[in-house]
Amino acid sequence: MDENTFLRLRDLIYQASGLHFDPRTQETLERRLRPRVNALHLNSFEQYYLYLQFDRDRREELGRALDAVAVHETYFFRELRALRAFGEEMLSEFAALNRASRTLRVWSAGCSTGEEAYTLAILILESGLFDGWKIELSASDLSQRVIAEARAGRYRANSFRTMDEERRARYFTQQPDGSWLIDERLRVMVNFGCFNLADSRRFNIYEELDVIFCRNVMLYFDTAARRRTVTGFHQQLRAGGYLILGAAESLVTLNAPFRLAHLQNDLVYQKQ
Ligand SMILES: C[S@@+](CC[C@H](N)C(=O)[O-])C[C@H]1O[C@@H](n2cnc3c(N)ncnc32)[C@H](O)[C@@H]1O
Repeated sequence: MDENTFLRLRDLIYQASGLHFDPRTQETLERRLRPRVNALHLNSFEQYYLYLQFDRDRREELGRALDAVAVHETYFFRELRALRAFGEEMLSEFAALNRASRTLRVWSAGCSTGEEAYTLAILILESGLFDGWKIELSASDLSQRVIAEARAGRYRANSFRTMDEERRARYFTQQPDGSWLIDERLRVMVNFGCFNLADSRRFNIYEELDVIFCRNVMLYFDTAARRRTVTGFHQQLRAGGYLILGAAESLVTLNAPFRLAHLQNDLVYQKQ
């Protein structure tokens, strides 16, 4: 790929998603997009750029391009400290605070194939605090492909790398092909949908959320995209609601209106 095509493709991807590729990552971008160039029988990345700009199917192809360049790595019970804070500390706080409305509102933003959202569903269920409540557990991603997989709820061994076998046996049934199918009780708890965090016009579909999990998503954004996204999260949380980032992420450079809450299990962000 020549430098000019790289810059044009990466700007297109950035505008559409916030995903940022600096010049050192040109090879990575090339490797991830090459299967799309081949699938469309195009001869060059330049042709692919023109396809994304002008072809009748450009919208659908842009979706496939974003799916191809994004990192979708995820698994059940990933990064336990935040999950312990959620299960052992936040949930009892929410149960007390929301006892009048008996509604719990949680969003897993950038949920990939759904393991994070189903992990939260398990913790909500196991807390025993919300029987008869309205549980609004939403999970979203920009990729239609991963959302379809999340809805199907069928997983391979890799997804269970940090989940104990006892829980796997309790909530999943092994299929003849060796995969594991999620229990219907959990499947119906999560409302999956496509939501592009770069599309700020849609940052009004949730409101008064108790907590947003957005872990290992903004890692791949630049500062401006992170700032826009975090501003959107702020609008959608209720006062005192939590924002949970990945273990390697922080809001340090963003000057965002969140304070650090020192919970027993983890440090998390809380809307001021
Ligand atoms: C590495 S996975 C993280 C999954 C899960 N949150 C976790 O921590 O295990 C990152 C996900 O973010 C999604 N993503 C990237 N940019 C996005 C955007 N602009 N809007 C919504 N989702 C996005 C990707 O498609 C990918 O599935």
